[in-house]
Amino acid sequence: MTEARKFITYLDAMTPPSRIQPMKWSREEIYAELERLRQHPKKDPRAGTIVSLYNPSTGNLLGTTPSILAGFQWIEPGEHGQAHKHTFAGIYYVVRGRGYTIVDGKKIEWKEGDVLALPPWSFHENVNADPAEPAILLGVFDLPLMMGLRILLEEEFKGGYQPVVEVVP
Ligand SMILES: [Fe+2]
Repeated sequence: MTEARKFITYLDAMTPPSRIQPMKWSREEIYAELERLRQHPKKDPRAGTIVSLYNPSTGNLLGTTPSILAGFQWIEPGEHGQAHKHTFAGIYYVVRGRGYTIVDGKKIEWKEGDVLALPPWSFHENVNADPAEPAILLGVFDLPLMMGLRILLEEEFKGGYQPVVEVVP
């Protein structure tokens, strides 16, 4: 085991980090990975099936870029994810399907082409309202920023599901 360093020089601190590499994920790769994870026996009750786009040049920031993690969420027909909150904020783009997201008790319906902003540290749960067709969301999150600041936190909602107190058109 190497001894921990307690001091670095100015030059150490100012050495530019390695560059982030451009990267592409093809539609075929994304859908193949979604299909593979859908078959996985251990699904997260909060998230269902999520494939995040990891760019290895972001290292342990686990990003698509150094500040953003993008990913696709496949929600099975009728699936209702459990409520939770996290310190990273996000934007959802509805690639396919129809459903709603409950954010801090506010029910927000969505359909293909809609965009939804998810504030940080707000309880949320995604629901596919279609009993026959899957829904697909593209999520873009500032998770790597929280990772870098060491303030990546998550909390489950007690009881699993929030009561709806307001419906947002
Ligand atoms: Fe979430």
